[in-house]
Amino acid sequence: MTQEAHVTQGPLTTEAGAPVADNQNSETAGVGGPVLVQDQLLMEKLAHFNRERIPERVVHARGAGAYGTFTVTRDVSQWTRAAFLSEVGKETETFLRFSTVAGNLGAADAVRDPRGFALKFYTEEGNYDLVGNNTPVFFIKDAIKFPDFIHTQKRDPYTGSQEADNVWDFWGLSPESTHQVTWLHGDRGIPASYRHMNGYGSHTYQWTNGAGEVFWVKYHFKTDQGIKNLPAAEADRLAGTDPDSHQRDLRESIERGDFPSWTVQVQIMPAAEAAGYRFNPFDLTKIWPHEDYPPIDIGKLELNRNPENIFAEVEQSIFSPAHFVPGIGPSPDKMLQGRLFAYGDAHRYRVGINADHLPVNRPHATEARTHSRDGFLYDGRHKGAKNYEPNSFGGPHQTDRPLWSASAVSGSTGSHPAATHAEDNDFVQAGDLYRLMSEDEKTRLIENLAAGISGVSRDDIAERAINNFRQADGDFGKRLEAAVQALRG
Ligand code: HEM
Repeated sequence: MTQEAHVTQGPLTTEAGAPVADNQNSETAGVGGPVLVQDQLLMEKLAHFNRERIPERVVHARGAGAYGTFTVTRDVSQWTRAAFLSEVGKETETFLRFSTVAGNLGAADAVRDPRGFALKFYTEEGNYDLVGNNTPVFFIKDAIKFPDFIHTQKRDPYTGSQEADNVWDFWGLSPESTHQVTWLHGDRGIPASYRHMNGYGSHTYQWTNGAGEVFWVKYHFKTDQGIKNLPAAEADRLAGTDPDSHQRDLRESIERGDFPSWTVQVQIMPAAEAAGYRFNPFDLTKIWPHEDYPPIDIGKLELNRNPENIFAEVEQSIFSPAHFVPGIGPSPDKMLQGRLFAYGDAHRYRVGINADHLPVNRPHATEARTHSRDGFLYDGRHKGAKNYEPNSFGGPHQTDRPLWSASAVSGSTGSHPAATHAEDNDFVQAGDLYRLMSEDEKTRLIENLAAGISGVSRDDIAERAINNFRQADGDFGKRLEAAVQALRG
């Protein structure tokens, strides 16, 4: 649909629907006199304008979204009883919001930053949200570090700018970030567009089949457009001259019928293999190497419809890692567990207690049947129905069937670090990633990292940052140290 199709007919009105006589001149006491309070059109316009903005997302503020279709291409019923995945050929409506992480609402798209990949499946058993990134791993492995981490990516409280000191101080002191920081400074660190990048669920999630058997899964969305990235200098130019480059690219490609698509894959680990796996399978700083658990094609995701109103459908869209459907659930990943709380809380603050009722957010293939009521902007959807349960008036009732299977736990409560398995340390997979790169790619990686690290004000911060890469791979560390020295003099 194009913008021209949205023309409305009839005279201009006030919010209450009364016709407006003059929208050019406010009402005054005589010609040249002061403005009158009885000019309620003026009051209403100014007051509404003052309230146009809602709080931007505290992270991922900058983004673009589109609707689409997910189609199952492989029978996965042996692993999950999720109804929307139940048969080959089954289609489910989706909404996907892409984003950058650190920039504010008006920031440029072409920057070195992970890209958000937040996907809502409007299934017949409720909305299932998969709130991932374009990276298979993350910088930290415990939610308690997230606010500190994001503070280092955002503006400094004193200078008001993003500071290299804060970024590299935190990364240097958080060696578990080495894998993701290597990824981010490699060729895929600045995608050419939202269409030319992969998406990942990143965390491990639980799938449960009809017999209650548990599988741990990781999701991959492989772009059918091919991976395309921007070299650092080209990205700098584009960010300065065309800040909306990603957003426009997505809208225009859908407008011209060139619908972007992704091949959806999962890696599947039977639950019994988790305890003995060489890496902690719930550690978000690690991937599962494909030779251990090969990705299996299960579906196709296509984006084919632009939102009609960016504020209503993109700014007010909400995605929560806690939105599961029967057959899919969380893993004990400590990051994911923290996220299960953080998103709903953010939505209640940012959009309000009835955010789930908005057209983009509510279930499309079923209805929400709760006993929650009222609050700001409640639309009266429940009409006169009883608002408590149990009730004997035929109201909605519990199913007695949990969405996912229980996990066994042991030990005592405490602030435990994530468990390490046989081959776990903070550097092993960063080293593997480095050694996988071609010589040219390594050179660009070192240049990108050195450009960042050389911006810090203190040698000890630079040295600690370099030391993480040294531990990942000796050659990596040596070359980076020389490159940083050359820039810092
Ligand atoms: C414990 C760590 C994390 C916390 C506490 C956290 C918290 C948040 C919050 C509060 C928002 C804003 C939500 C809103 O206002 O609607 C957000 C957005 C987002 N986060 Fe996280 N986050 C964490 C880690 C991650 C990770 C690991 C990923 C990806 C794998 C991720 C992907 C996203 C995406 C894609 C969005 C944007 C969603 C949208 O488009 O509306 N976050 N996060």
